[in-house]
Amino acid sequence: MKRFNLLALMMAIFIGSAIIFAGCTKEGPQGPPGKDGEDGVDGEDGTAGCIECHDDSQTIFAAENQWAASVHATGGNFERNGTDCAPCHTSQGFLEVIETGAMETEAPISNPNPQNCYTCHNIHDTYTPEDWSFTTSAPVEFWINGDGYDMGKSNVCAGCHQPRVPDPLPTPGQGGNVTINSPYWGPHHGPQAAMLVGTGGYEVGSGYDNSAHTNALENGCVTCHMAEPYGTQAGGHTMGMTYAYHGHGVVNKAGCTACHTDPDALDAKIESTKEDIDEKLAELRSKLLERGVLDSSDHVVPGEMSMDEAGGVFNYLYVMEDRSGGSHNFNYAFSLLNNSLESLN
Ligand code: HEC
Ligand code: HEC
Ligand code: HEC
Ligand code: HEC
Ligand code: HEC
Ligand code: HEC
Repeated sequence: MKRFNLLALMMAIFIGSAIIFAGCTKEGPQGPPGKDGEDGVDGEDGTAGCIECHDDSQTIFAAENQWAASVHATGGNFERNGTDCAPCHTSQGFLEVIETGAMETEAPISNPNPQNCYTCHNIHDTYTPEDWSFTTSAPVEFWINGDGYDMGKSNVCAGCHQPRVPDPLPTPGQGGNVTINSPYWGPHHGPQAAMLVGTGGYEVGSGYDNSAHTNALENGCVTCHMAEPYGTQAGGHTMGMTYAYHGHGVVNKAGCTACHTDPDALDAKIESTKEDIDEKLAELRSKLLERGVLDSSDHVVPGEMSMDEAGGVFNYLYVMEDRSGGSHNFNYAFSLLNNSLESLN
């Protein structure tokens, strides 16, 4: 009995220590993964990718600081979150219509955001510097007539900075009358991309051509509006064109000088271009007021009017809302105004 007990005791000790030993070789609680993450691959799930952007270069701060002063951040119209406004006025709506290709969002956007880093860049998608890539770089087909816009890095701008489609859309050469029901009828406030490539106007008459800018600028808007910034007033991510200098407005010429080598000559050119456009705008305005189709606050007077009158109001609003004073595409803008005037004489 005693020997049996001793054997049993020795076996029990052996088994017990085997269990304890096996327990000891089991993994303990895991330590944090290294900077390359669990899979050891740079950028996949580690922090190596993060610190390529989140470093001490101040690059992100510069863009954020400029953006914060931009009209994108401060304009305050992002509460326009209804289905037909959200594609351009909210960040989430824009990202939705990039996917669906529709002109409206499926529902109003809740918690709307204005245009921001995530609207244009794929921030925090792969968590690598590749996320500076654009949310869209596809050429844009204008809603108003299907014509195309393909100007490199500025394709991300053109989807929003295009005319809206007014109902009715005046068409030259069709004659007859049209009836306009709303005082807010027109191409809306942001037709710049269509202006730059010379399309979308009421092309009555003939002689339409484009300025050199239409073909000379590979990256369209970005070359002029996102050039070397002047503080937080113009250029870079402010995307503004002008800054105040000794009390008067100056165009930021940083993006122009590669082609316009003489800055004084360029200032004179900007000035005379603007004068020509402003003069034609004023002439067309008084003609439209005289015809009773435009009111003194630059809205159409709802009612029935001739095709050329509707087209005249359209061209007037189009060139005015473009707001470049002819710098985007002088030849096209000038012809729209001049030909509309002739059609109403
Ligand atoms: C392409 C560059 C880029 C990379 C790579 C990147 N980030 Fe960011 N991150 C940004 C930008 C830009 C913002 C500012 C966004 C904003 O204004 O909300 C930001 C903001 C943040 C914020 C502030 C909170 C927020 O969401 O606004 C945190 C936290 C953050 N990032 C963590 C990370 C981590 C962790 C990684 C890696 C796993 C990473 N980021 C990778 C560009 C990057
Ligand atoms: C998602 C739509 C959207 C995109 C993309 C977009 N914009 Fe805008 N942009 C707007 C809206 C809307 C406003 C007016 C903001 C407001 O009033 O709230 C605006 C305002 C501006 C202004 C200021 C106009 C003023 O009143 O002074 C400039 C300049 C501008 N955008 C240039 C650009 C450029 C350049 C790009 C491309 C790099 C771009 N935008 C991309 C929608 C967009
Ligand atoms: C195709 C894109 C697009 C759509 C759709 C759109 N907008 Fe806009 N809207 C713009 C852009 C771009 C601007 C800024 C133009 C600028 O500042 O030069 C703007 C400016 C405005 C402004 C400011 C005008 C001013 O003079 O400061 C208001 C208000 C506005 N939009 C209302 C609306 C409403 C309401 C809807 C829907 C019924 C709508 N928008 C749909 C692109 C759009
Ligand atoms: C309306 C669109 C738009 C918005 C909003 C926007 N960006 Fe950009 N961003 C651009 C464009 C276009 C470029 C290319 C500019 C160039 O090449 O001159 C760019 C370039 C950059 C670059 C240089 C990228 C590289 O490849 O080296 C950084 C960094 C950057 N943006 C950061 C930001 C941050 C941070 C925000 C938010 C505060 C932001 N951007 C918001 C359009 C936008
Ligand atoms: C050849 C350079 C050039 C190009 C390309 C260009 N712009 Fe402009 N833009 C200007 C100038 C110059 C003004 C007028 C500035 C002033 O005198 O107020 C202007 C004015 C504007 C304004 C009125 C508000 C402001 O900032 O003065 C908007 C909005 C605008 N441009 C948007 C765009 C968009 C969107 C594109 C691309 C589709 C574009 N621009 C392409 C030079 C350019
Ligand atoms: C890629 C070259 C290029 C860039 C960049 C450029 N321009 Fe031009 N621009 C031209 C050419 C070419 C002409 C036609 C010849 C001339 O008038 O000098 C022109 C003409 C003009 C005109 C006269 C009106 C017209 O269209 O005929 C104005 C105003 C103008 N540019 C303003 C600007 C401003 C402001 C900038 C910068 C914000 C700028 N340009 C950037 C090439 C360029």
